[in-house]
Amino acid sequence: MSDPIEYARNNEQRHLAELQAFLRIPSVSTQPAHDADTRAAAVWLAEMMQQAGLENVAVIDTERHPLVYADWLHAGADKPTVLIYGHYDVQPVEPLDLWKSPPFEPTVRGEYLYARGASDDKGQVFVHVKAVEALLQTNGRLPVNVKFIVEGEEESGGESLAAFIPANKEKLAADVALISDTAIISPEQPAIVYGLRGICYILLDITGPSRDLHSGSFGGGINNPLNVLGHIIARLKDEEGHILIPGFYDRVRPLTPRERELLARFPLDEEKWLAETGAPQVWGEPEYTLVERLGARPTLDVHGIIGGYTGPGAKTVLPSTVHAKISMRLVPDQDPEEIGRLFTQYVHQITPPSVRINVQVVHGAPASITNLDIPAMKAAATAYTKIFGREPVYMREGGSIPVVAEFQTHLGLETILMGFGLPDDRIHAPNERIYLPNFYRGIQTSIQFLQELAEE
Ligand code: BES
Ligand code: ZN
Repeated sequence: MSDPIEYARNNEQRHLAELQAFLRIPSVSTQPAHDADTRAAAVWLAEMMQQAGLENVAVIDTERHPLVYADWLHAGADKPTVLIYGHYDVQPVEPLDLWKSPPFEPTVRGEYLYARGASDDKGQVFVHVKAVEALLQTNGRLPVNVKFIVEGEEESGGESLAAFIPANKEKLAADVALISDTAIISPEQPAIVYGLRGICYILLDITGPSRDLHSGSFGGGINNPLNVLGHIIARLKDEEGHILIPGFYDRVRPLTPRERELLARFPLDEEKWLAETGAPQVWGEPEYTLVERLGARPTLDVHGIIGGYTGPGAKTVLPSTVHAKISMRLVPDQDPEEIGRLFTQYVHQITPPSVRINVQVVHGAPASITNLDIPAMKAAATAYTKIFGREPVYMREGGSIPVVAEFQTHLGLETILMGFGLPDDRIHAPNERIYLPNFYRGIQTSIQFLQELAEE
């Protein structure tokens, strides 16, 4: 019997090569042209789970992209069961010309591995498969019972898993959930995320004339949907970042003095953080601190506008139809469905009768907060401390992982968000990467966590 952590150390080069194979599969879940690739990533992952020694490995078909399930349940009824979640789908890669190496040709430069999905989330979910492999190959058993559920739609709404969870409560039953899909502060400072924002995602279509019109012949007499869109967007949020939709803030749970104090102690180097973004200035609601604005306050952002002439040179046109993609990040206790309704009502109300508008809420998820007092939280803190050499800090994250609230609601599970990414991994952006020492330490931390959990 050898030591699983030793085993993980001795197999780092192979684990890296396997991760590269995973990253070569372009599983962009939101783009139908990649449907077959997305499925291929699920099949590949299932194969690796089988090889790791997991049992009941299954690629489960859904309305859209398959789920991957696997388990190992022989630790004994007195040992806890942990449900490990991750996602094998990735964000689109555009704009492609900004990548230094192609997004699906994983490339090592220095201590980083560059590829779409390297950090979000293939690299991080693979950590746990390799941890299980290390334990099974050295000890022939796991210290706790383990179930994996890995989805292929996280980046595009997660509807299939949202439907699967309430229908498969028994299959997914566990004592705690574990997710690595977040970032820590730095390689020297691990972090446990105890709060995530929710989301409400909107598609807006505005149509004026039934076809594009000459702006000289018709301009001044027919309203231009692009101009209307500009007006609508300007009325969603003021210049300081306050959202102007009536009722939007009604259910926002106020920050308690204790939490504000806790967040004030959070080690965020504002200057360094700003420099990393490349923006000229920090911005946002003046009555809240930057840390509060990033994780504990709701936001609204426009992500894309399609409309009019965008080719080279000038063209004088009143476009017939324009589109916008907009989302709101939500905090406890905002209800994504209610927010979708409030948004829709307000936009209808401020749209002039000279255009037609269609508002579609494409997906939503509520925010989540994890109870800090559960035993698994202690196991995670101990595992981080042993492997990273420093106690983790606790933080709220501004991004969303919709499944966390679903686990809470349908399975009664608290989720440990034990991330191994870094804030400058450029997730969702060109040149996404993972810091390889974190990938390797992640495998060790996962091994340690499963061992600590058995002791709790
Ligand atoms: N891994 C991210 C969540 C995240 C973002 C963690 C930033 C830490 C920092 C996750 O894959 C993600 O991007 N989720 C989407 C969810 C949405 C599409 C429902 C998000 O937050 O935009
Ligand atoms: Zn992710």
